[in-house]
Amino acid sequence: MKEWIERAVVYQIYPKSFQDTNGDGIGDLRGVISRLDYLKELGVDVVWLNPVYRHSGADGGYDISDYRAIAPELGTMEDFDELLAQAHARGIRIVMDLVVNHTSTEHPWFIESRRDKTNDKRDFYVWRPPYRGGVPNGEQSMFSGSAWKLDEATGEYYLHMFAEKQADLNWKNPRVREAVYEMMRWWLDKGVDGFRMDVINLIAKPDEVTACDGGPHRNGFNGPMQGAYLSEMNERVLKGRDVLTVGETGGVTPSEALVYAPLDGSRLTMIFQFEHMDADAGPKHKWTDKRVSLPKLKQVMARWQTELRGRAWNSLYWNNHDQPRVVSRFGCDADEESRTRSAKMLGACLHMMQGTPYVYQGEELGMTNYPFASIEESLDVEAIGAYRELVIEKGEMTPEQMMAAIRFKGRDNARTPMQWTAGKNAGFTSGTPWMPVNPNCERINAASQVGDPDSVFSFYKRLIALRHELPVVCRGDFTLLMPQDEQVFAYTRQYEGETLLVACNFSGKTAALDDAAKTRGKRLLGNYPDAGDAGALRPWETRVYLL
Ligand code: GLC
Ligand code: CA
Repeated sequence: MKEWIERAVVYQIYPKSFQDTNGDGIGDLRGVISRLDYLKELGVDVVWLNPVYRHSGADGGYDISDYRAIAPELGTMEDFDELLAQAHARGIRIVMDLVVNHTSTEHPWFIESRRDKTNDKRDFYVWRPPYRGGVPNGEQSMFSGSAWKLDEATGEYYLHMFAEKQADLNWKNPRVREAVYEMMRWWLDKGVDGFRMDVINLIAKPDEVTACDGGPHRNGFNGPMQGAYLSEMNERVLKGRDVLTVGETGGVTPSEALVYAPLDGSRLTMIFQFEHMDADAGPKHKWTDKRVSLPKLKQVMARWQTELRGRAWNSLYWNNHDQPRVVSRFGCDADEESRTRSAKMLGACLHMMQGTPYVYQGEELGMTNYPFASIEESLDVEAIGAYRELVIEKGEMTPEQMMAAIRFKGRDNARTPMQWTAGKNAGFTSGTPWMPVNPNCERINAASQVGDPDSVFSFYKRLIALRHELPVVCRGDFTLLMPQDEQVFAYTRQYEGETLLVACNFSGKTAALDDAAKTRGKRLLGNYPDAGDAGALRPWETRVYLL
């Protein structure tokens, strides 16, 4: 692994919710520029920007209508160039979102493609005739309902694995691949430092998924050509450039990770796996308000640590724009003391593992989920679709059950505006915010945390600095301790005779440590003022020791 990547910590920005500068209620690129010093203070090395391209408003910018233009509400290309220059001047790299499984149906390629069956761009997308007068097969959209949409112009269906406005590109067509590569080179030539690749393991759909055979819903991920496409992309675009690439790959196992992101650099730098995010899923998939089983969460995370060791590189994350706030999900936001302690504990638990940590905006403040009262308050296409399907159409969940699940797991929780101050709209905007600001901004905000040595912010700062300072954090191997324990998540990392011991209490009750996990040696970090009893952790306590 390149040395800078080995030590790097990435900060994810959802620009629309980060900082507004012109009072229209929508965060913008000038807002990101204005907060670069904040990121510098935190100490992060890289920023991943969620999509900033022109889009059609169906899925938070993941429905791109022009890959080479900035969404007007976010700013201009001049703003982007300035952001890039200003970030670089502070030693911060910029990684772009790359959304190439699909485009918006407003993208010029699709507009051409839908015109007629012989159009030059027809094969840029996946078109199929009706099967016995209906949809080509039973493929389901990730956002509920059929993945096929009939287009009147030609009487054929196009495939959309996400919203109707997100038409899947046909990666079998070499012209599509070349067009994507050319666009990627264009951004890299501008100076961007890499890509986070949206649902990249969906591009190589197996033939059955697109067959016009009336077949059932199958799984289109991880198709047989997946590795070949990534090798080709590396060869044509990434090779020889000093970039960080991370593929979003839902449903992958550690052995598939070796295929997508081998350490030899021939494909991607790393991937985002989802097994730990799925550990609390129930019979209705993510839609549950049940808390995760700690032994299960530990088992999944430990497996990724050990199975990728020396063969591929892990990404480490609790949060992103698609996940609820981790302090509400795996920690406790019921009172200030528990919130602060559990936010720090979760940070330490993740950041002391091997891989590249990703901090999602506001995570470093311990921002929480939002108290959504009814489905009318949801803006997210996923939650709205799931509510329609599970509550209204199928009646499999009551409105109360579904709202509890949306409050606990919905994506909108991550998208409420960043909480900068205790003042009006949390200092996010002087206008009307596009999404409600969490009323708890009065207690949870950056202004009160940046200078406070006991804050969650200062704790994250320390975690990031530890990775920069200690080789054992970057390179140490991983051993899980107390695997069956329901409260304690403890592990060691070892590198060249140094051992790091990390012990975390995932509960609000005192927890005993067994002999191997007893704290000893030099105390590097903790979330209580004193070291405490070596054999027991206090509520939500975390300790990091060097033995
Ligand atoms: C990814 C994105 C998500 C988006 C989807 C479709 O999962 O992270 O926000 O809705 O892809 O592009
Ligand atoms: Ca704005």
